[in-house]
Amino acid sequence: MKVLLTGGAGYIGSHTAVELLNAGYEIVIIDDFSNSNENVLNAIKKITNKDFEFYKFDYKDREKLEKVFEENKIDAVINFAGFKAVGESVQKPLEYYYNNVTGAIILLQTMKKYGVKRFIFSSSATVYGNPEKVPITEESKTGGTTNPYGTSKLQIEQILTDLYKSDNTWNICILRYFNPVGAHSSGLIGEEPQGIPNNLMPYIVRVASGELEILSVFGNDYDTPDGTGVRDYIHVVDLSIGHMKALQKLDRSGLYIYNLGTGKGYSVLDIVRNFEEATGQKVKYKIAPRRDGDIATCYADPSKAKAELGWEAKRDLKDMCRDSWNYIQKKKES
Ligand code: WQD
Repeated sequence: MKVLLTGGAGYIGSHTAVELLNAGYEIVIIDDFSNSNENVLNAIKKITNKDFEFYKFDYKDREKLEKVFEENKIDAVINFAGFKAVGESVQKPLEYYYNNVTGAIILLQTMKKYGVKRFIFSSSATVYGNPEKVPITEESKTGGTTNPYGTSKLQIEQILTDLYKSDNTWNICILRYFNPVGAHSSGLIGEEPQGIPNNLMPYIVRVASGELEILSVFGNDYDTPDGTGVRDYIHVVDLSIGHMKALQKLDRSGLYIYNLGTGKGYSVLDIVRNFEEATGQKVKYKIAPRRDGDIATCYADPSKAKAELGWEAKRDLKDMCRDSWNYIQKKKES
């Protein structure tokens, strides 16, 4: 089976590429390196000892996209080519809707033209907004997103739902990621946010390595066990394996939605403690005001993915911390 990965050089795309290649799938990657670089491709090849087709262009370029479908017999598409910085999306809403929503439409139109109807979409727990209760099941209410990034995910989910209603021979799988962290155990691929990171784990890594001075813990007065925000952190390799399981599910038509999380919630201070224990590095932190738009608690009920895909997260918080740290150390050495 040949799988097209748009944004396949990015953080989650590259880890999924590795898992697919290792499992014997053929892959084609499209990436414009807007949030990644060429070295990632070599790293994927080094880890897997396998080769793949690569095209460098913006996935919204319809002509070039069509050429990929003409040159390759694509069986399924996984779309990782989304912009994902929450804060930036507030500053640049048009860019976010254009890239994420229009891009998805162009991709789906092209798939339709070439008769390819298996599609996996990278969605996010952000579509649940401020959840009424935790753990969050796939039936929990969606909506109430507070930024264009989150709204773009919700809009694409709606488009996919309508597409499936119009033609139920599509095989569509929506994967709602919780908080992906960690890196491949080789230390060759991982997360490389540009500039000062917004997300917790990359920020912690940079404080531990001395690149940033101190972590601001955004609020310690939430209604959580220690007052700091609680999230469902999931190792990126587990998440990638989830995509492979979803691909196996797409052998019959349907519209499927799965939460990909561990089902466990950890606070900001839990993460700091576990990071220190796993790596032996000190993480300096201070308590700061709450960050706008943050919610107190968000974690998944992942039981549907377990029951239907036979998937569950295996890697624990220490693995996530150690692998995040290992990646940055390896990068510094190279
Ligand atoms: C986690 C916790 C912060 C930074 C976001 C997106 C979501 C998904 C993942 C994907 C919160 C606290 C953070 C810091 C802190 N997007 N924190 N100090 O907000 O759960 O989810 O990323 O691409 O759609 O909304 O993740 O890592 O930013 O924050 O105290 O410097 O850490 O308040 O409780 P979040 P996060």
